[in-house]
Amino acid sequence: MAIPTFTLNNGVTLPALGFGVFQTPPDETRAAVSTALEVGFRHIDTAAAYGNEREVGLALRESGLARDDVFLETKVWISDYGFDETPHAFDKSAGKLGVDRLDLFILHQPLPTAFDRTLDAYRALERLQAEGRVRAIGVSNFMPEHLARLLEATEIVPAVNQVEVHPYFQQRELLALDAEHGILSQAWSPIGGITFYPGYGDDRRSTLADPVLLDIADAHDRTAAQVMLRWHLQQGRSAIPKSTNPRRIAENFDVLGFELSPRELAAIDALDTGVRGGPEPAAIRLESHGRAIPEV
Ligand code: A2P
Repeated sequence: MAIPTFTLNNGVTLPALGFGVFQTPPDETRAAVSTALEVGFRHIDTAAAYGNEREVGLALRESGLARDDVFLETKVWISDYGFDETPHAFDKSAGKLGVDRLDLFILHQPLPTAFDRTLDAYRALERLQAEGRVRAIGVSNFMPEHLARLLEATEIVPAVNQVEVHPYFQQRELLALDAEHGILSQAWSPIGGITFYPGYGDDRRSTLADPVLLDIADAHDRTAAQVMLRWHLQQGRSAIPKSTNPRRIAENFDVLGFELSPRELAAIDALDTGVRGGPEPAAIRLESHGRAIPEV
C-alpha cells in the first residue's frame, strides 16, 4: 500500500510516516534502518546529535534504493549554529550520510538565550535551500514564542516543526499555530516512548499500557502503538516512530489498513495530561548542551 504523503509549504512531498533513530546506538542503526527500508519506510529522520548519521547512510546505500526514493531528514545541533557555522554542519551531516543533498534540514532546538545565533543558523538554512543543497528547511522544538520571533525575522516559513506529541502530551495550541502558518507538525516520540524510556523517571505511566488505547486497539485487532500512529496520521501529522526491533519496526509501518472513528480520535484527544516528557525546550543552552559534533 502506498504511504500517504504530505505536501510541504514549498511543494516538496514527504512520506507521512517516517522512521526515527533517536537513541538508537550507532552499532544498531544500520540493521534498524535496513529493516525499516525493507518493510517499506521511505523516510528516515536522524540528527547530527544522535551520532548515527554514518550508519543511516550505510543502510541507505546497502538497500539498493535510488537516492530519490528515500526522504532523508536530519538536524543541526546547537553547537553548529551561526551563519558561517551552519553550512559546515550541512557538510558534516551530508558527508556522514554519504549524500550531496538533504530532503529536509532542520534546527534541532531554539536557543532562547542566544536567539540571534538561532536566527543566523536559520538564515544559513535559507541559503542552503536557495543553493539547492537542501529541498526543504524547518525547525524542531520551537514553541509559539520561538516561532513568532523566527517568522518575524526570516524569509522562508519553516516547512516543518518537529515537536514532542503523543496522547499524553498533545500541544494542541502549538499544532494549531503551525497549521495557521502552513507549517507541517511532525511528532517526535509519537507512540510516547518518552513516557517509558529508562532514565526519565520511574513514576511515569506508559502510553502503551493505557486502557483507552488498549480498548481501541482491541476493537481493531491492532496494538496501542499502531493506534497512536493512526491517530497522528488521521489528524494530519507526520510521525517518526523509533524502534530497533524488527517485529516492532514492521508493526509500526503496518498502520495504513485501518481507520479510527471520530469518537475514537476524540477519546485519544482526551488523554492529554499537558505534562511534557522530554526536556523543556527553553532550558537548552549552549553552555550546558553545546557539545561539539565531530567532523566527517
Ligand atoms: P524498541 O526500539 O526496543 O522497539 P517513540 O518513537 O515514541 O519515542 O517510541 C520509541 C520507544 O518505543 C522505544 O523504546 C521502542 O523500543 C519502543 N517501541 C517502538 N515501537 C514499538 C511498538 N510497536 N510496541 C512497543 N514498543 C515499541
